[in-house]
Amino acid sequence: MPGPSPDGATRMTDVKKLFVKTYGCQMNVYDSERMAEALGAKGYVTTDVVEEADMVLLNTCHIREKASEKLYSDLGRLRALKAERPGMKVGVAGCVAQAEGEEILRRSPVVDLVVGPQAYHRLPAMVEGGGRVVDTDFPVEDKFTLLPERKALRGPTAFLTVQEGCDKFCAFCVVPYTRGAEVSRPVARLLDEARGLVMQGVREITLLGQNVNAYHGEGPGGSWGLARLVRELAKVEGLARIRYTTSHPNDMDDDLIAAHGDLRELMPYLHLPVQSGSDRILKAMNRKHTAESYLRLVDRIRAARPDILLSSDFIVGFPGETDADFRATLDLIRAVGFGAAFSFKYSARPGTPAAEKPPVAAEEADARLQELQGLITAQQHAAQEAMVGREVQVLYEKTGRKPGQMVGKSDHLHAVHVEHPEGRVGQLQRVRVTASAANSLAAEPVGPAS
Ligand code: SAH
Ligand code: SF4
Ligand code: F3S
Repeated sequence: MPGPSPDGATRMTDVKKLFVKTYGCQMNVYDSERMAEALGAKGYVTTDVVEEADMVLLNTCHIREKASEKLYSDLGRLRALKAERPGMKVGVAGCVAQAEGEEILRRSPVVDLVVGPQAYHRLPAMVEGGGRVVDTDFPVEDKFTLLPERKALRGPTAFLTVQEGCDKFCAFCVVPYTRGAEVSRPVARLLDEARGLVMQGVREITLLGQNVNAYHGEGPGGSWGLARLVRELAKVEGLARIRYTTSHPNDMDDDLIAAHGDLRELMPYLHLPVQSGSDRILKAMNRKHTAESYLRLVDRIRAARPDILLSSDFIVGFPGETDADFRATLDLIRAVGFGAAFSFKYSARPGTPAAEKPPVAAEEADARLQELQGLITAQQHAAQEAMVGREVQVLYEKTGRKPGQMVGKSDHLHAVHVEHPEGRVGQLQRVRVTASAANSLAAEPVGPAS
């Protein structure tokens, strides 16, 4: 029961409220959870209502210009709110914080603190210290060991960062600058974190890294690759499903491909960004693979796991991209047959090599993006249609909008709505797919998961 406690312990009036907004990739989602936990240890509870917040934390993304601009439009809106709530603190975290640092304080008087992705374990101290501060160091200590223990926040699924940063330096990309060099977390810590999550009811873990399949963490007997880590995690009692993202084609080694064939816990879905189907553009992008080597890789993966569903990322309008280059990308998409894909219009990012080159005309890039997305949408629908009539397994994540409805993901990562009044969140269920809608499947329960 809330109310004052005689021994001076935390009273409801002492509780401070934290509002977190997360932009960008899944690693930012993971980081936001960890920052909320770190501030939780200092008496902050999270709220969904920004107007009642004592602290607002914006965890930002720098990947494209539009993503970065969102920060400044949100800060503009926070100005009015802070005028009414002068005690409210505003923090900027994530990749824009790393890229722009002090500049954010200069541009935006409402901001109290700026913290980069490698420094957020020091956030509680920054908040308590007061004043306007910036911390974008890449410290030598491991931030993860200094953070409080994980809480399972999103029901039966959780993210687990195993690797961070990137040494690939694709010509368009800011990540090697905002996240720094590749660093892998040690095996023992990851197993501990995974076991802790499973004890709290998590049944599916998605391993995260900007280059997750470049994982090379310290483990018993030396350096472990991702496949070995996945094989060890698959032994954790109660962990039913493992996924990982995002992979680079050049780091898909034989052991990882084999793991897709022989580990039932490793889900048949792989996000494998290719960016372009033109060798000339891939070279200019510094991707270090060709369209042909990507297609051969897809063949090997499908030989190990024939029903695997592949997704990808594409950039259209990279500097110098001709119509013929773009046609080569469409050819690659037709040759692979993707179950899903993200596609972006090239955005010049300050400090990256490609930003120096003359851009493709915006109308041209827009038209290409539309055509590519049309093809991808058709492939996505075909992949969904192919599921109708089949039995799949779904992990229930929440109840649906309609009474008696459960919602979850299939092994192939399709969102599935199931009419199942007896269903429970966290249950792994065998269902038969009855229909395919725009972005999800409908299904009926068949029995418990095998
Ligand atoms: N580590 C992953 C993806 C990182 S960013 C990889 O290696 O592919 C996610 C996606 O954003 C990229 O795959 C790319 O398609 C897109 N992206 C990155 N920089 C971009 C830019 N400057 N303009 C447009 N899209 C970009
Ligand atoms: Fe960016 Fe390339 Fe690294 Fe992916 S591999 S994070 S696209 S530099
Ligand atoms: Fe964005 Fe940083 Fe992730 S730039 S995509 S939040 S690594």
